Amino acid sequence: MKVPFFRFDWFFQENRRQIMSVHEEIMSSGRYVHGDYTQRLEEKLAELCTRRFAATTGSCTDALFFALQAVGIKDGDEVIVPPFSFVATLDSILRCGGVPVFVDISREHFMLDIDKLEDAITQRTKAIVLVQLFGQCHPQQETIHKIAQKHGIPLIIDAAQAVGIKNNGISAAKVGDIACISFDPTKIVSAYGTGGAILTDDENTYTTIKKLANHGLSNGISEISGYNSKISELEAAYILLQIEKLPQTMARLNEVAEKYLSQLDVVEEIALHQKYCTEPNCHKFVISTDKRDELRNYLENNNIETKIHYAKLLSEQKILAGRKFLKHNLSNAEKASRQVLSLPIYPNITYEEISYVCQYIKAFFCKSAH
Ligand SMILES: Cc1ncc(COP(=O)(O)O)c(C=O)c1O
Repeated sequence: MKVPFFRFDWFFQENRRQIMSVHEEIMSSGRYVHGDYTQRLEEKLAELCTRRFAATTGSCTDALFFALQAVGIKDGDEVIVPPFSFVATLDSILRCGGVPVFVDISREHFMLDIDKLEDAITQRTKAIVLVQLFGQCHPQQETIHKIAQKHGIPLIIDAAQAVGIKNNGISAAKVGDIACISFDPTKIVSAYGTGGAILTDDENTYTTIKKLANHGLSNGISEISGYNSKISELEAAYILLQIEKLPQTMARLNEVAEKYLSQLDVVEEIALHQKYCTEPNCHKFVISTDKRDELRNYLENNNIETKIHYAKLLSEQKILAGRKFLKHNLSNAEKASRQVLSLPIYPNITYEEISYVCQYIKAFFCKSAH
């Protein structure tokens, strides 16, 4: 048996007829961008995330960059950010000239450690970026928003991996001043190219980001210096279809996670990190162990593909060379980057495949105990 890390075509294979028919309709309409599907998608996203406004962008990386610009981040402004995330989180700060201030993560859920947040806030802090990681909501997301509000600092949510999830009934993209989501092909709601969106309740922010994403134009007049950042009608239609099926997708992924949890719970040498958010979407299934690299090799030798999210912290990335940044004690993040391993998870992974993965994880620890 061979278990790939992800099966990118699962959604297409299961919904081929509907996808092809909507493609036929759009291709023959001659309307490829800024059409009805994009507008419907924006309305749907606002509804899904319980926000007043949604605007689509070319990617979540762009969405984060526009969000930081919209709250006024410029050269030398400090932006608090956890170091355990995909490089896009960092890149968007650097693109604005911001100075990243890395604050450690919690050992339990791998997101920002709320107890370390206030110590890192200074007069120069002009934004906080909270990353909702691995398909979980930060369990204290509302308290983090209150801390940001108390200090008068905008809170931006990197909800790239967090579409459709809630903590205690509150969407991962509802907290904060602006939330950014991704439709990258690895995501739970994805495009077949790139795509993203911002969500906000503030009309001015929405209007500014709409302009930034479309050459700075408003009613055909160039008002600010902007960018060209959009999704196609084909992608908007594809994403809409995925949102329609999101409850079923999440239910299937939660079932996969349950199967992993029930079979791996007995393995004392690994920690399971899937229990801190009340309603996860299970975008990733992450375990951690001191023997991560040996385990990964062993699984690979037995045809099980795994990934590491993230082997290198943002604070260790080469793009920081020659840039100003600040780093608090990051011991939890450093440890996580040495220990984490993401197991295969997708809606059409079979029970046999899950059991195969678990069987080899158990065999590895049995073998290494002798
Ligand atoms: C946490 C996080 N932030 C930002 C991004 C960037 O998203 P995109 O690929 O849509 O630019 C991603 C994923 O790719 C991500 O996982």
